[in-house]
Amino acid sequence: EADLYILYKGVYVPKAVHTPESLKYYEEFTFRPDDVIIVTYPKSGTTWMQEILPLTISGGDPSSVETLPNWDRVPWLEETRASNLNLEERPSPRMLTTHLHYSMMPPSFFQVKPKVIYVMRNPKDVFTSSYHYYNITSFLVKPGPKSEFLQKFLDGKVIFGSWFDHVKGWLNAEEKQHIMYISYEEMIKQDLNDSVSRIARFLGINLNPEVIKKIADKCLFENMKNNPMSNYSVVPQEFMDQTKCQFLRKGVVGDWKNLLTPEEAKHFDAVFKEKMKDVKYKFAWD
Ligand code: PPS
Repeated sequence: EADLYILYKGVYVPKAVHTPESLKYYEEFTFRPDDVIIVTYPKSGTTWMQEILPLTISGGDPSSVETLPNWDRVPWLEETRASNLNLEERPSPRMLTTHLHYSMMPPSFFQVKPKVIYVMRNPKDVFTSSYHYYNITSFLVKPGPKSEFLQKFLDGKVIFGSWFDHVKGWLNAEEKQHIMYISYEEMIKQDLNDSVSRIARFLGINLNPEVIKKIADKCLFENMKNNPMSNYSVVPQEFMDQTKCQFLRKGVVGDWKNLLTPEEAKHFDAVFKEKMKDVKYKFAWD
């Protein structure tokens, strides 16, 4: 872990894209009230939302997702690239991303209260997606045997710490008027048209039904897989070996059933129940 990760405020972040300077840039970042920030625990639907958001804000303009890779289009604030992107010069509404916990947000966030879209996903599927992803990336600690990785995941000894703490922290945010909660499962199970119109409404954008349909279609898994600006194909193979497994891997709900044994799933559920016992939120997964 020590070789590949920095321990930042109690959570691991990969050194490949985080430095003390990039974390300082994030800590000193000045938000605007009309900024829109995608917040996720990794593997919960970040890239998907990085496709939906620019299309929604641009009123369905395909070039909004075809000219810049997702990490420059809706950049992660805590990553090294952010400070070189001249975000201060970008016109409003700026689109940003973070994987950080609520408790780690910089002072300006609590003063300015920019808009947040918090995307969450069944943690058993997050675990499954992570397991495959850690296997193909050279800048993350290899997951090792599944049972070991499961224990690390449940203990929060993976990048960005504990899923449970992340979700609890954001669900317990003090002021919620500027936060929209949505889940991967709602986006998949219900028509994506509904999710796009919910997001547009939250942002105060008026879109007609044809535009909504066009956006939803563009954001289908198969269509995103064919967008070189969203499928991570420009990342060199030495960092991410997509010949083994693609970044846009399966895009389904419930793939954990193909990875976890019934006993492991039961153990996961028991940990979930215990850690989330005070949470009132009705999650969209089974
Ligand atoms: S990361 O590394 O944190 O940015 O990863 P993230 O984008 O949050 O999560 C990757 C998973 O999201 C799936 N994905 C999608 N599913 C359905 N439809 C669309 N359009 C879509 N886009 C991305 C992606 O396939 C990863 O999930 P798995 O289960 O591994 O397929």
